[in-house]
Amino acid sequence: MIRFLEKYSLKSYNTFGIDVKAKYFFEFTDIADPEFFFRSNKTWNDEKILILGGGSNILFISDFNGLVVYPNVPGIQVIQENRQNVWIEAGAGEEWDEFVRYCVFSEFSGIENLSLIPGKVGAAPIQNIGAYGCEVGNFIETVKGYNLENMKPFEMAGNECNFSYRDSIFKNKLKGKVIVTSVVFRLEKFPEFDLSYGNLEEEVKKLGEINIKNIRQAVINIRSSKLPDVKELGSAGSFFKNPVVGISQTEKIKKLYPEIPYYPAGNDMVKLAAGWLIDQCGWKGYREGDAGVHEKQALVLVNFGNATGKEIFDLSEKIRNSVFEKFGIGLEREVNVI
Ligand code: EPU
Repeated sequence: MIRFLEKYSLKSYNTFGIDVKAKYFFEFTDIADPEFFFRSNKTWNDEKILILGGGSNILFISDFNGLVVYPNVPGIQVIQENRQNVWIEAGAGEEWDEFVRYCVFSEFSGIENLSLIPGKVGAAPIQNIGAYGCEVGNFIETVKGYNLENMKPFEMAGNECNFSYRDSIFKNKLKGKVIVTSVVFRLEKFPEFDLSYGNLEEEVKKLGEINIKNIRQAVINIRSSKLPDVKELGSAGSFFKNPVVGISQTEKIKKLYPEIPYYPAGNDMVKLAAGWLIDQCGWKGYREGDAGVHEKQALVLVNFGNATGKEIFDLSEKIRNSVFEKFGIGLEREVNVI
């Protein structure tokens, strides 16, 4: 199925709920559709192209004066298995958490720590979604899609995707050049669970034995207690990345703030918690018009109703400046500003 629309509102296509319009909007559900569309329609080469997943990591600050591509390919299918592993292909349009739920209830392990992350399967490899010590890139066997440059289908092995913290080849060299239509995941039949992050193990034990279903439920409980439900309150999860800084800079901050949370990041570097830094600057629960900072997690900016993208962006810049003034640390956005 192909849907093509002009001057189309994107309000329900971004979790911040920002009301902007796309000049053109192209939605498809079959992996063969992009080839047909791009070969048979007017030359799209002159238009700006934006590939949109669940819109859960994006902040629109103005209308999009180009073509929005919305891959909505459905389907979840086991395509191969052996004694140890199972390979599952999921369409880009599947809700990420529905896919995780399917895997957990089939007892296929690997991505249970990534429960309740908003967005679609197709967006998971783009920013290498991660939570509670797990990153999706470690479980991706192949990314499949359509290459806008040579107008042909493409396949890329997971180990060629340059996955790192909230980053991949799709945010860099291939930015805007490929449309992901499906992803093949390699999961485990005999799991080794990772409960090392924060209070995850404690939360699982509250539910009973350590098993995949309880891990999913514990992650859901932790997330729901800290992060807003995007159906009720517009947000895009963490607005900034956690900054990685030198150990000596951290030692200086630690003298003034002995309780600062940090995690080793290799080569004398440490990862600091952006949420903590923002919290220390007094932003948690702040509100300016309809733009604000979540009351339970300072790393999450929220739209209380009718904030514009520009208002949220301006607030994020104020936060960045204040963190820089207080700690000398420049925060990098995780969210894509369009
Ligand atoms: N903290 C505060 N105040 C706050 C927020 C956090 O003091 O307002 C402290 C916490 O107490 C904790 C530390 O900062 O000691 C880290 O907080 P938390 O464990 O809640 O995680 P985070 O670093 O804020 C990251 C990811 C989240 C992911 C969680 C759990 C990034 C940018 N964010 O958040 O990802 O769910 O860890 O793994 O890496 C997302 O990417 O959208 C996202 C929500």
